[in-house]
Amino acid sequence: MAATLLDGKALADTIRAEIATQVADFTHRCGVKPCLAAVLVGDDPASQVYVRNKQKACEQNGLVSQLHRMEAATSTGQLLERIDQLNTDRNVHGILVQLPLPKQVDSNRVLDAVHPKKDVDAFHPANVGRIMQGRPLFLPCTPHAIQQILLRHQIPTAGAHIVVIGRSDIVGKPIATMLMQKGPGGDATVTVCHSRSRNLPEIARLADILIVAIGRANFVTGDMVKPGATVIDVGINRTESGLVGDVDFNAVRQVAGAITPVPGGVGPLTITMLLHNTLLAARLQA
Ligand code: GUN
Repeated sequence: MAATLLDGKALADTIRAEIATQVADFTHRCGVKPCLAAVLVGDDPASQVYVRNKQKACEQNGLVSQLHRMEAATSTGQLLERIDQLNTDRNVHGILVQLPLPKQVDSNRVLDAVHPKKDVDAFHPANVGRIMQGRPLFLPCTPHAIQQILLRHQIPTAGAHIVVIGRSDIVGKPIATMLMQKGPGGDATVTVCHSRSRNLPEIARLADILIVAIGRANFVTGDMVKPGATVIDVGINRTESGLVGDVDFNAVRQVAGAITPVPGGVGPLTITMLLHNTLLAARLQA
């Protein structure tokens, strides 16, 4: 039997409606609209699309968005100056520096400069440390999106073996950390695999829940999935046949119990979690 489709678009609509209500309530009580400032350096086409989608989502749900465009030749110092301005601007609650940054920029210095209370990506070391300790200020958007898919579809994580393929700072490391914390959406036994893992297919086949964020088109094939497992595909790969995930969807859906499509799975929820964090940032600063 083919797997249940975990429709991220429908879930995103539900959660966005909840957030819009909370934003309206916050604005009514505090007289302030939560504001996200996005910093976009250079003219990478994919980054431009991502930032535009983030801005559109803000505007559709009662938040304010600012776009700070800077030219491709921007230096680390110029970017630090801009971050400093945004840190002290009382009208700005969340700051998002779109990645990747141009080669000449020291990305770590820039991300470290964002005030932790405005760090809606949860990339600052203080926020990463808080997640590790199980007392997060913000949760990073893509891992939070994955956790919400599991929670809202009542896919149990407690005691489950969850295999994460990919060890990036943005997805693999934080989702593994979050799933092993105590409490709802956690309590899992987590294994992290990556490009250097030996026996990766055998390990993947042990997973009750398989989370794939390795950035390679159709990397996970049907034989790497335990029958009935839940498969969460975080990949977005542009190929000649269009946008595809890290999972060979047509093959894996014959084996899995539930699966996220690409597009329309994790993606729409990631932006939704950014809205959530921007509201949270505004509350922290109110
Ligand atoms: N580029 C790719 N993913 C992300 C993300 O989650 N946040 C930011 N700021 N840039 C990205």
